[in-house]
Amino acid sequence: MKNIRNFCIIAHIDHGKSTLADRLLDATGSVTAREKQEQLLDSMDLERERGITIKSHAIQMNYIHNGEPYILNLIDTPGHVDFSYEVSRSIAACEGALLIVDAAQSIQAQTISNLYLALENDLEIIPVLNKVDLPSANPEEVTDDIVDLLGCNASDVIPASAKTGLGIQEILDAIIERIPAPKGVVDEPLQALIFDSVYNPFRGVETYFRVLNGEITKGQHIKFMATGKTYYADEVGTLNLKQTPKKVIKTGDVGYLITGIKEAKEVKVGDTITDAKNPTTNMIEGFEDVKPMVFAGIYPVDTEDYEDLRSSMEKLQLNDASLVFQPESSAALGFGFRCGFLGMLHLEIIQERLEREFDMTVITTVPNVSYQAYTIKDKETPILVNNPSDLPDPSGMDRVEEPFIKASIITKADFVGPVMSLCIEKRGQITNQTYLTPERVELSFDMPLAEIVFDFYDRLKTVSKGYASFDYAPIGMRASHLVKVDVLLNANVVDALSALLHKDNAYDIGKKMCEKLKELIPRQQFDIPIQAAIGAKIIARETVKALRKDVTAKCYGGDISRKRKLLEKQKKGKKRMRQVGNVEIPQEAFMAVLKLN
Ligand code: GTP
Repeated sequence: MKNIRNFCIIAHIDHGKSTLADRLLDATGSVTAREKQEQLLDSMDLERERGITIKSHAIQMNYIHNGEPYILNLIDTPGHVDFSYEVSRSIAACEGALLIVDAAQSIQAQTISNLYLALENDLEIIPVLNKVDLPSANPEEVTDDIVDLLGCNASDVIPASAKTGLGIQEILDAIIERIPAPKGVVDEPLQALIFDSVYNPFRGVETYFRVLNGEITKGQHIKFMATGKTYYADEVGTLNLKQTPKKVIKTGDVGYLITGIKEAKEVKVGDTITDAKNPTTNMIEGFEDVKPMVFAGIYPVDTEDYEDLRSSMEKLQLNDASLVFQPESSAALGFGFRCGFLGMLHLEIIQERLEREFDMTVITTVPNVSYQAYTIKDKETPILVNNPSDLPDPSGMDRVEEPFIKASIITKADFVGPVMSLCIEKRGQITNQTYLTPERVELSFDMPLAEIVFDFYDRLKTVSKGYASFDYAPIGMRASHLVKVDVLLNANVVDALSALLHKDNAYDIGKKMCEKLKELIPRQQFDIPIQAAIGAKIIARETVKALRKDVTAKCYGGDISRKRKLLEKQKKGKKRMRQVGNVEIPQEAFMAVLKLN
């Protein structure tokens, strides 16, 4: 146990976490040349393409320090705020963290939020100043920023370059010298923390765990405390580049477990594994069920593909437990599913996977957060509103509450004005403003989650010319004045276009939605009125003018092959359209509310 070190790497996105992890694997000889891939830890195709570590993984390295062999377990953490619960579980499995800061970008929002998580878990922090090879690096200044943030000495900060290999040796030595060995008692009943799980189509769910007390042996009868289910440990082992089966994994170490579980949702990150017959009385604290934050409808473009879509979603859920869905129907779109996601990135990933891995063509409706409505009859029991159509009739409604977040934005002093205006426009209330350095400011806001779901990131980037980073955490439900804005096409309400909006924004957004839809809906043989309404009250109107010419009119009736080509082209264009009443609506229209600015 005294020769084990468990650590993670925390950083703001793109500060070089994955590149540095690769370097450490290289330097410890954990990778053979053949196994080397550019981004070793990011094994999913999608991850590699996006350069985002979506799921955390763990890997074991062997390292000799002053003639003594050590085991280093690196627990990788996802960088995006959608997956922050997984970051906190990974951190809980470690005694130390490398805090990577980009020498050109300095401290950013996720540097701080992840650092706080690490400090809450009493981790030893090793600050690493990465990318010192960059011509734009500001090593002295950024070191000062780190010293200010951590209250450490400048000599504690290790200058490094994951690109050139500078500082890698120093980092390895610091891991051994500064991070404490794991504590824990071998003779106690098994207590292990699940910090991740991965679905493997051949072997079922692989559970990654860290043993806090006791040990886990092959064949042991074990119990997952939050779910209460028991299993047999068919296989346990350590996580090297490949999995290495072992007879036993002891206190302090990290490993994987295979039990034959076939569904990702049976294994909950944050749960405690114990012995079925001799259980520990201490469940590891802080376990929470991950809740979806954003909801949207997913419908097949072709109504006949509904059953295919269902089976694709079920398969996806087997390996992504954070995806939730239930059937719903829409007058406009027919049968589909209301799905819950961790955030907008997660939504995009699911949509992309449905298309790539399952060859589905789907329509995604306007995303919304989850509201709680209370009726006059029952002011105590909330009605969950995950879909605008679930909102009770306003006449019988007492109040609606919406989820709020605490937002933290770090930007340059020059941009404080525009960033504040944006946050206030998004119904934010400033709660704190701290100058980290004379040029860099951290702003804190309480804001409705719904406002950041839409175009917030893009707007923030624009108003700050790219010099702002952003992070958030939920802070609970607050009362809000919401109205349901419906869209009527040709005098028919298209339910899939309805949105829940704050009363103060409803008129403006309703108007913009009509304008946007006018751009997107193709002209047809008749005028199509587009209206936005709150209840019976029309708040905006546009018209798509009737088409004058026949598309084939140009062909003089003569050139048949040209005519066929034109018609084919038209048909192809139609693929992503949905016929609602007698109006054809393209896919973009359903997401139009996201792109109003
Ligand atoms: P996520 O995994 O998406 O959270 O990002 P990350 O923090 O892991 O960053 P990643 O390792 O993907 O690096 C981001 C970019 O910075 C990549 O293009 C790397 O090649 C580059 N990079 C990383 N380290 C260095 C470095 O020391 N010097 C230079 N010049 N570039 C680096």
